[in-house]
Amino acid sequence: MQPATQDSRASPSAIASKRLLTGIRPTGPLHLGHYAGALENWVKLQHEYDCYFLIADYQVSDYAHDLSRVRNAVWEVALDWLAVGLDPASGSFVIESLVPEHAELMAWLAWLLPMGMLERNPTLKAEIEAIESPDDATTKRKSAPVAFYIYPVMQIANILLPRAHLVPVGEDQLPHIELARQAARRFNRRFKPIFPEPAALLGRVPRLVGIDGSAKMSKSRGNTIDLRDSARTVARKVRGMNAGPPREANEPGNVQANPVFAYLDAFDRDAAQVRDLKERYERTGVGNKELKDRLTAVLDELLEPMRERRARFESNLPLVREALEHGTNRARTIARETMEMVRDALDLDYLGKHRA
Ligand code: TRP
Repeated sequence: MQPATQDSRASPSAIASKRLLTGIRPTGPLHLGHYAGALENWVKLQHEYDCYFLIADYQVSDYAHDLSRVRNAVWEVALDWLAVGLDPASGSFVIESLVPEHAELMAWLAWLLPMGMLERNPTLKAEIEAIESPDDATTKRKSAPVAFYIYPVMQIANILLPRAHLVPVGEDQLPHIELARQAARRFNRRFKPIFPEPAALLGRVPRLVGIDGSAKMSKSRGNTIDLRDSARTVARKVRGMNAGPPREANEPGNVQANPVFAYLDAFDRDAAQVRDLKERYERTGVGNKELKDRLTAVLDELLEPMRERRARFESNLPLVREALEHGTNRARTIARETMEMVRDALDLDYLGKHRA
């Protein structure tokens, strides 16, 4: 850890008064859904708040049997973050399990949340159901690991540990943020008021459809365009994209039924052109090739600067390590401070001098 005096961010005037925490599970490369729903927003927010960007490796869920993959993904996520323009001199990149105070705080918070509250959490319910009663007959049913009940509490600990005010997340995470607010209120009321009630912040595109047209872009469905995809791969994926029901080029179509438009809405900066295209599509028809060529160009414009930044960091991995190390150390400093406040609030100083 660098001494605070050498760290410009540690000077009080340089630190925004409000803290922001958000996280991602390290399960593989990040995709356009992550970008539109979260990363793009983080890049904007990084200069306005004291930001903690967490790589939540305690919450690896279905990858716990394959930790080498998680190890790899920790670096991949960091590279993706650097590629989109997160600046480790502005926000801290934090590896969750290297700040074990997360687990420590979680153990206390677990007493504040009744099981029923977790069981009613729709996000968690869906995840557990997918394991215990998979809808396709070939997937084996299993009993969900205990960790599925632990991880929402871990996520709450992630948020409360830096005493975060703001938590930018995707729509599916809102139930977890609500739990974090409850936990903060309960702790503050019962013990001492040390936790701000964290507020959720939604991204511009809360959910991006997959290239197959299914509801959500997700790695497990194999329907992603990844931030690290080459121009050729992106062009190929866009060519193969679901573009709604079959239709002749000069046949009017329904914008809502064509996922290519969802992507243009999400990524094309020229909103007037997109409006025009939609209008033409519904009036006289526009060939899917024209739409897809436009989308390919739009995505290239978005992804090319990311490719350049990624290449720079890939050829200088010590810089990536430094970002992770420095951010994690910074998170530990505030984590220790919070845990002291928590121990004081709970009056855990069993062996303190005044006890004997
Ligand atoms: N559970 C989140 C997800 O699956 C990732 C996450 C972990 C997170 N810890 C967090 C998000 C804390 C916000 C705050 O996307």
